Amino acid sequence: MLNAAAAERNKEPILAVLQESVNTGRPLQALEISSGTGQHVTHFAQALRNIIWQPSEFDRQSLASIEAYRAHYQLHNVRPAIHLDASLPHQYWGGIQPESLDLVVNINMIHISPMACTEGLFKGAGEVLKPQGLLLTYGPYAVNGQIAPQSNIDFDYSLRQRNSEWGLRDIAFLSSTAQRSGLFLEKIMDMPANNKCLLFRKESLV
Ligand SMILES: C[S@@+](CC[C@H](N)C(=O)[O-])C[C@H]1O[C@@H](n2cnc3c(N)ncnc32)[C@H](O)[C@@H]1O
Repeated sequence: MLNAAAAERNKEPILAVLQESVNTGRPLQALEISSGTGQHVTHFAQALRNIIWQPSEFDRQSLASIEAYRAHYQLHNVRPAIHLDASLPHQYWGGIQPESLDLVVNINMIHISPMACTEGLFKGAGEVLKPQGLLLTYGPYAVNGQIAPQSNIDFDYSLRQRNSEWGLRDIAFLSSTAQRSGLFLEKIMDMPANNKCLLFRKESLV
């Protein structure tokens, strides 16, 4: 059971957003993309028992950690984690069927992965979500070309130093990328530590 300090800090604020954004009274199906350690999915699953959670990861070591969390909490509403590369088309997403999900969650991946992952995330979510389904992303973002405050400017710089394909993405860019896959930015919520939750709704274009 790996432990990420940031996940420990942000799991409760993100859960609060989920609790006010998703229906808690009927059975739902959710996919988490880049589940990391497994801290988020097991936290959310304990509070949102009406949702069947599918964790996923790109990194093999993290997959083992998610399984350790699952075994520890014995949650019946968390499926075994699957290997999922967000940059690949949804046909390679572990057999997840088109229009089968009510919710897709993606925390702190967009800025720490190549742009192909962001593009794949929106494209794939647009396919696997049911009409009116929700995509929630969480992380630090640029707004109208500006990054703020200084700590996020420094963070963006350090990410780009580590990998030239990483860095904070602009919300306007994410919004137009999402729209091409039928996902519409419905809400931007300020979160602790200069992060945001973005809520995208899958809507019919007609
Ligand atoms: C900063 S970690 C965040 C993990 C977790 N969501 C959290 O908040 O603790 C970034 C994650 O992006 C994942 N990632 C990197 N490339 C990916 C890809 N191509 N597809 C899916 N996930 C990827 C990494 O494996 C890692 O778990």
